[in-house]
Amino acid sequence: MERPATSIHGQWTTRWAFVLAATGSAVGLGNIWKFPYIAGENGGGAFVLVYLLCIACIGLPVMMAEVMIGRRGRQNPVNALATLAKEELAHPSWKYLGWSGIAAGIFILSYYSVIAGQAMAYVFRAFSGVFEGVTPDGAQSIYDALSGDPERLLAWHTIFMIITMTVVARGVQHGLEKSVRFLMPALFALLLLLVGYAANTGEYFNQAVSFLFTPDFSKLTSEGVLIAMGHAFFTLSLGMGAIMVYGSYLSQDASITKVSISISIMDTLVAVLAGLAIFPLVFANGMEPGAGPGLIFVTMPIAFGHIAGGQFFGGLFFVLLVFAAWSSAISLIEPAAAWLVENKDISRRRACVLIGGTVWTIGLLTVFSFNIGQTWTLFGKTAFDLFDFLTANIMLPLGGLFIAIFAGWFMKQSSTTEELAIQQPIFYYGWRILIRYITPTAIVIVFLKGLMDAFGL
Ligand code: PHE
Repeated sequence: MERPATSIHGQWTTRWAFVLAATGSAVGLGNIWKFPYIAGENGGGAFVLVYLLCIACIGLPVMMAEVMIGRRGRQNPVNALATLAKEELAHPSWKYLGWSGIAAGIFILSYYSVIAGQAMAYVFRAFSGVFEGVTPDGAQSIYDALSGDPERLLAWHTIFMIITMTVVARGVQHGLEKSVRFLMPALFALLLLLVGYAANTGEYFNQAVSFLFTPDFSKLTSEGVLIAMGHAFFTLSLGMGAIMVYGSYLSQDASITKVSISISIMDTLVAVLAGLAIFPLVFANGMEPGAGPGLIFVTMPIAFGHIAGGQFFGGLFFVLLVFAAWSSAISLIEPAAAWLVENKDISRRRACVLIGGTVWTIGLLTVFSFNIGQTWTLFGKTAFDLFDFLTANIMLPLGGLFIAIFAGWFMKQSSTTEELAIQQPIFYYGWRILIRYITPTAIVIVFLKGLMDAFGL
């Protein structure tokens, strides 16, 4: 298999379009829903500091490796890895790394879509004023009424899947690029507006700033360090080929280092802005920062229900969450869509119907795990918990590990030098040391510790 010079799916029209699309992939429920609550649960400042370190020392080198492999292979992750493995005289089974990524994307989207569907439902609840003056019990019962109703969850899951597959079906330039050009700036604008609003809370804003940025290492456990490291993978969309397939549409003259740094900075900025938008409201209403995964769906409505303009700002907040989830969702499914189009000679539209249908069907398990299927458990976990665990704690870290190993140990130094085209030797060798030694070691530790914790060893 010869390496194609360009992808058959076309290219991003500009380097900036790629940065926007990849940032759209990275910024999602992970930043706005997950980051604030895990930062809250792990004591704030010190956790945030470790998370930032992990983004810089582990996330960034793996992202550069993924973009590099994607752009050099110019195909979906399976074919790109097969082609590069052949060229580097490595074993053909490296293509299975692409397969595990495609599978991870399908599994993640199956539950991601259900959570994003809940966010869509909340857009309407927030704008219609349901949260006005709501009590904590009231907010909980609004959430329970939604998640306990399989029909409603199913309807929102279906709508979210349809809008996701519609964008993917339209392809690189017409679908992905057009939507993120509009989505990403809108997201930044909305977030800044919400932070500006939160800044008006005065002392509570200061409290939130010191909570997030004053490290208190006595509050950080070793498990917290591992959670921070694991989240760096999830939030940057690494380890499953999403960034790799986006890289396959990147023009040859773009600097992989620069685009990767831009994406990492923007992703981190959104997480921090989300924290700054959320925590002042949490403190202003005397709530617990460590309230857990319900922080958004239960706590935010209470907060918005008691502040001036809360109906409007609450609505905007959930609109923002849906936008962020949408642009991540399209990247979760792009590796599978690209594989079908490249290998099965079918149209993008048909590919999307096929995969969309598959993801939608698997998603039913998550829909039911919140209600009628709450008792269908395996190892004490519901279907939703299992998908989350299997993907975030097993598939992504393993994917990231093997990507690092392939880029660091199986690709010739001349190939990576050529593709990365870094001018200053010190930066190239910095990357190489990270990807060969530091990153794999760190991932192995995260992975083993995560599994040991999960099984109580
Ligand atoms: N990065 C996305 C988020 O933070 C999730 C994601 C993971 C998207 C893996 C694509 C691939 O929500």
